Amino acid sequence: MKLIIINGPNLNLLGKREPEIYGSTTFEDYFATLQNKFPNVELTYYQSNIEGEIIAKIQEVGFDYDGIILNAAAYTHTSVGIGDAVKAVESPVIEVHISNTHEREAYRHVSYIAPVAKGVILGFGLKSYDLAIQSFLG
Ligand code: DQA
Repeated sequence: MKLIIINGPNLNLLGKREPEIYGSTTFEDYFATLQNKFPNVELTYYQSNIEGEIIAKIQEVGFDYDGIILNAAAYTHTSVGIGDAVKAVESPVIEVHISNTHEREAYRHVSYIAPVAKGVILGFGLKSYDLAIQSFLG
């Protein structure tokens, strides 16, 4: 089972960015926890702050990997291009968010990915990623 986690803009700052919303763990530390918890999953991690790079990565892995776990962060709410990339590839995509975007500002209630994703997991903190992996193993 080959899965990739793709994180979008500002998620490289996890651990120091608005810890009251996103917690105080870095994603690198959490990723190590996930690798230990799921030793049978070939798990890769990619992060970019650049929309086109995220689209390029989705295209690159999207005909090969068993699944993509995508937290497009702010681009979730704006990017037709990332939504189109998700639609274009064969690998199933789970949209993930750390926070419950529906209890936040109205502009975070819109997602260009949800309509083309296999499913959406949000609001469970970093555990949202764990639940997404489990959904592929299910
Ligand atoms: C986020 C929610 C987005 O609205 C926000 O722009 C992020 C992080 C989350 O994981 O909760 O950067 O995707």
